[in-house]
Amino acid sequence: MIFKSFWFWFITVFIAIQFIPVDVPAKIESDPKDEIEAPKEIISILKRSCYDCHSNESTYPWYDRVAPVSWIVKDHVKNGRKVVNFSIWKSYEKKKQKFFADKLGKAIIIRMPMPSYLWLHPKATLSNVEKKLLKEWGENLKETIK
Ligand code: HEC
Repeated sequence: MIFKSFWFWFITVFIAIQFIPVDVPAKIESDPKDEIEAPKEIISILKRSCYDCHSNESTYPWYDRVAPVSWIVKDHVKNGRKVVNFSIWKSYEKKKQKFFADKLGKAIIIRMPMPSYLWLHPKATLSNVEKKLLKEWGENLKETIK
């Protein structure tokens, strides 16, 4: 009996969940004037390693669009943008900018980008040199936000 087969149900459910809409768009319009400004090498690190979850310009490769992976990606992007969204950085209050600058150094050493993300997106891995650059940038940033 096909209806008793594990694979029949597995595949049916797998196909069915693809129709559950994912409501976090990869791209959102925002004013380019609000985007973060930083030295060129910092921007290129942020774009490569952080923009997928902390900007309005996320890119979802095909495997990020397949449920249930897409649900996890959606949550990362939604929560990541809440913490800091580099696309609208300049519209933030100083307090929020400072909060981020404060957390940055520790975050990149302990858990940013997230290991579960790096597994599928190895190009986002930060080298030790890049971690150091980001950390120093964060410390400078903290000083400049008054
Ligand atoms: C796969 C998605 C993803 C990527 C890529 C990512 N982040 Fe995050 N980030 C999140 C999420 C989700 C949170 C909020 C939940 C949490 O703190 O775990 C967060 C939180 C943070 C925080 C706040 C931490 C705290 O202690 O409150 C900082 C700072 C941060 N990210 C920096 C970065 C930087 C810098 C990069 C790039 C080097 C990066 N993130 C890449 C998803 C991501």
